[in-house]
Amino acid sequence: MRVLVVGGGGREHAICVCAAKSPKVDKLFCAPGNAGIAKIATCVDIGPMEFDRLTAFAVEEKIDFCIVGMDDPLVGGLTDRMEEAGVRTFGPRKNAAILEGSKAFSKDLMKRYNIPTASYENFDDYDAAVEYLKSAPMPIVLKADGLALGKGVLICNTLEEALEGAKEIMLDKKFGDAGAKMVIEQFMTGREVSVLSFTDGKTIKIMTSAQDHKRAGDGDTGLNTGGMGTFSPSPFYTKEVDEFCKKNIYQATVDAMRNEGREFKGVIFFGLMLTEDGPKVLEYNARFGDPEAQVVLPRMKNDIIEVMEACVDGRLEEIELEFEDNAAVCVVLASAGYPVKYEKGKVIEGFENFSGKDDYFCFHAGTKLTDGKVVTSGGRVLGITAKGRDLKDARAKAYEATSWIDFEGKYMRNDIGKAIDEA
Ligand code: GLY
Repeated sequence: MRVLVVGGGGREHAICVCAAKSPKVDKLFCAPGNAGIAKIATCVDIGPMEFDRLTAFAVEEKIDFCIVGMDDPLVGGLTDRMEEAGVRTFGPRKNAAILEGSKAFSKDLMKRYNIPTASYENFDDYDAAVEYLKSAPMPIVLKADGLALGKGVLICNTLEEALEGAKEIMLDKKFGDAGAKMVIEQFMTGREVSVLSFTDGKTIKIMTSAQDHKRAGDGDTGLNTGGMGTFSPSPFYTKEVDEFCKKNIYQATVDAMRNEGREFKGVIFFGLMLTEDGPKVLEYNARFGDPEAQVVLPRMKNDIIEVMEACVDGRLEEIELEFEDNAAVCVVLASAGYPVKYEKGKVIEGFENFSGKDDYFCFHAGTKLTDGKVVTSGGRVLGITAKGRDLKDARAKAYEATSWIDFEGKYMRNDIGKAIDEA
C-alpha cells in the first residue's frame, strides 16, 4: 500500500512511526514532513493547504491511502478533494470537520443534543457582545469562532480584560477571520483531560487518556502555546469519568453529527474539563492532539492503518483498540522565545543517543535538513517521549532524555506531569 501523510509536526511524525511499522505499508510519503520524518518516509515539498498539488501528487504517485493529520486542511476540505480525486482518505470531510472549525457550531450542537458543556452565547455583532459582557459574571472565556493556531481562547478575569479581548477578537481581528464570530462562555474550573477517539461515523472507540500543558512556563504561567508536553494516561480519568463520558458525551457526539447529515469519520479529540458537576466538553478537535499523539500512539498496540481503514470503510465495530499497560511522558524542546519570537537555523545534536532504545522517541516538530545537518525551523522543535512502567518512571526517563539533545536556545518546561504527584 502507498500511503501519504499530510502535515509536518510532531503529531505527523508519531503517525508516520506507526504507519511505517504496519506490514500493509510498502511506501510512505509525507507532505511536507520534517527532518525526523525524512528518516522513515519520503518527504514531499508540498504545503498542507496546497490542495491542487497534493491531489495531483496523490494521483500521480498512485497513493492508496491518505492520512490528513492537521486541522487547517481538514477544515478546508482536503479529504473531500482527495476523495474526488479517487484517493481513500482518513480524516473528516469538510462538513464534519466544522466540529473543530467553528466553535459556535460545536456549542450549538452540544446544546441541541444535551451534551454537557459550559453555558455560552454566540455573537457576530461586537456591540451586542459588549452589552452582554457588561452584566456577565467574571472570570469569563472568549473564543474566536474559527481556527486560530490554538490561540483564539482568552480567559478574562475582569470586565476591562473582557472588553479588551472582545475588541481584539472582533474589531482588531487579531486572529483574522476566525474572529468574525465569537463565543462567550462560562469559565469552568477543574482538571483538563484530553481523550482521543477513532470513529467511523457510527461506532466510536476511545483511545487512552492524556493531559496537555498549554502554557509556556512552569507552573502554568506565560502565554498559551500549541502544547509544551503531555502525559498518558491521566490518573484523573477514572472509571467513573469514563463511564459518564461514554454515556453522555462520546456516542452522543457521533450520533449528533450523523443526525445533522455530517457523518464524522476520523479522530475526534474531546477536550474535557472534570468539573465539580461532572465532566464537560471544553472543545472538540477533528484530529489527533499535538503533543497528545506523541504519548498516545507509542502506547497503541494496533496496526494504525488497519484502524484507520476500518474508520473509512465503516467497520470500526470489528476493531478492538489495545493499549500497553504502561505510561508515557512527552517533554517538548522549544526555541527560546517561543511562542512569540524565536530564532531558527540552530544546529541540533545528540540524536544518536536515541538509537536502539525502544522506550524512547525523539519526535521532530520544527526541524529541517540544511547542508546535511538537522536544524531548528520552528518554535516547538522536538517532542522527547519516554515510556515507563508508570507515570513517574516515564517522566524520569523523558527528562533524562531531554539532556541527550542540544541546540542553542533549547527551552523546556521542567514540570511536565507534576500533577501526577497530586493524583
Ligand atoms: N494539544 C492541543 C491540541 O492539539 O489542540
